[in-house]
Amino acid sequence: MSRNRKPLFTDQPARPALEEAELQKTHMRRVRQKTEQIANEKGRPLKGCVVTFGCQMNARDSEKLRGVLEECGFEQTDDEKEADLILFNTCTIREHADQHLYGRLGEAAGLKKKNPDLIIGLCGCMMQEEQIVRKIRSSYPAVSLIFGTHNLFTLPMLLDRVLEEKRRVIELWNGTDMIVEDLPSKRKYPFKAGVNITFGCNNFCSYCIVPYVRGRERSRDPEEILKEVRSLAADGVKEIMLLGQNVNSYRGGEGPEGSFPGLLEAVCRVDGIERIRFMTSHPKDLSDELIEVIARNEKICRHIHLPVQSGSSRILEKMNRRYTREHYLDLVAKIRRAIPDVSLTTDLIVAFPGETEEDFQDTLTLVDEVGFDSVFTFIYSVRNGTPAATMPDQIPEDVAHERFDRLLTLVQKRGQEMSSRFEGQTLPVLVEEKNRTPGMVTGRTSHNLTVHFEGDESLIGKIVPVYLAESRGFYYFGKMR
Ligand code: 5AD
Ligand code: SF4
Repeated sequence: MSRNRKPLFTDQPARPALEEAELQKTHMRRVRQKTEQIANEKGRPLKGCVVTFGCQMNARDSEKLRGVLEECGFEQTDDEKEADLILFNTCTIREHADQHLYGRLGEAAGLKKKNPDLIIGLCGCMMQEEQIVRKIRSSYPAVSLIFGTHNLFTLPMLLDRVLEEKRRVIELWNGTDMIVEDLPSKRKYPFKAGVNITFGCNNFCSYCIVPYVRGRERSRDPEEILKEVRSLAADGVKEIMLLGQNVNSYRGGEGPEGSFPGLLEAVCRVDGIERIRFMTSHPKDLSDELIEVIARNEKICRHIHLPVQSGSSRILEKMNRRYTREHYLDLVAKIRRAIPDVSLTTDLIVAFPGETEEDFQDTLTLVDEVGFDSVFTFIYSVRNGTPAATMPDQIPEDVAHERFDRLLTLVQKRGQEMSSRFEGQTLPVLVEEKNRTPGMVTGRTSHNLTVHFEGDESLIGKIVPVYLAESRGFYYFGKMR
């Protein structure tokens, strides 16, 4: 590397967080003037397409990106072929996610050949990795805008520069302590919404890239969260998903709403909100108080996603998860005593470095014992810069795949047994969308189980009682009562 090359990542500029939203709104108005002029020249409105990879946090970020783009004069489209701007909001949790982006970028570059005015932008977790940005910068000249997770809210300012300077703009920050409120956002569903409560992560599980690409944990102010929830309720939202890498470690000050259980209860008190979900819980921080709060508030959904990652205490220690198999099983027993019909789901990683057949057997027996409704199973993927990447005894691919297949078979068998336990009951279902089969709609129970039943579009967004007639493994066929 040459010594005087400008660093790719810079520290957050010294601007007061309070004025940030106003600054971005000024840029939004300027971009809008420019896009209106271009639209006049073209004789049609400009269109923007946001493509999302990854988790719920990214999905929520994309809603913010869409809201900003709309204010900037871009109509929304899901069709990259008709877009004047394509923004990829990337994920880097596993190698597969990275590879997927390169494929899509190649296709977008093809579109730019046909439409040289097309703006291709990249943001999100992958862009916080220096070697990836360097590769994109040198190999994908079609990309004209790159920014990261810490400066997502500066999109208006960066877009202004892209349109003004007509050259590639890259701005990446090392981190941020800013939480910028009050910028526009465009919800995917009118009846349900995700609400961030924390950003970033301090856990440093040894396999995980998230703390490096999303930065240190920051909690939003409870009043800001409640203000957002109230305004969503006034806008017709019935279901709220509180979002954070580790919601249990939410710290929003000294007041009663400054802890996660306290915050949950406050959200329960908001009129109009009928269902509350949250993602993700870390087993080491899930408190007795939280279990009690869930048990006594019917609005809180009977579903807890509680990633365990492995059933072997030896591997859990190497993963830096800071709990043991026994602690996890005790926690599950406690939750089940307090909330008997709860659905539990989890994440599991197979073939973590050093995992022996015996460790893997511990994972299988844990799955059997707990009885998860569903499990997200992953093969360990090396992430450069994480402690696990340089651990000895990386597991060969064939062993990893063979373990993965055995795990999947068990997970499916137990999942089917567990999720059929509601057959014959009538439960409230929030109707989410039309089914592909004409005359049918699809919704979810509080336990997060999918139900298909006869009904028309007018039911979408309503909570209706549905008789769960027939379990088909991971979903039900029902009948509205
Ligand atoms: N390899 C495989 N799976 C991973 N996850 C996180 N990092 C890795 C990795 N390096 C999984 C964990 C986490 C979920 C979101 O992704 O199970 O809970
Ligand atoms: Fe992917 Fe993790 Fe970023 Fe979510 S936080 S988009 S899972 S890398």
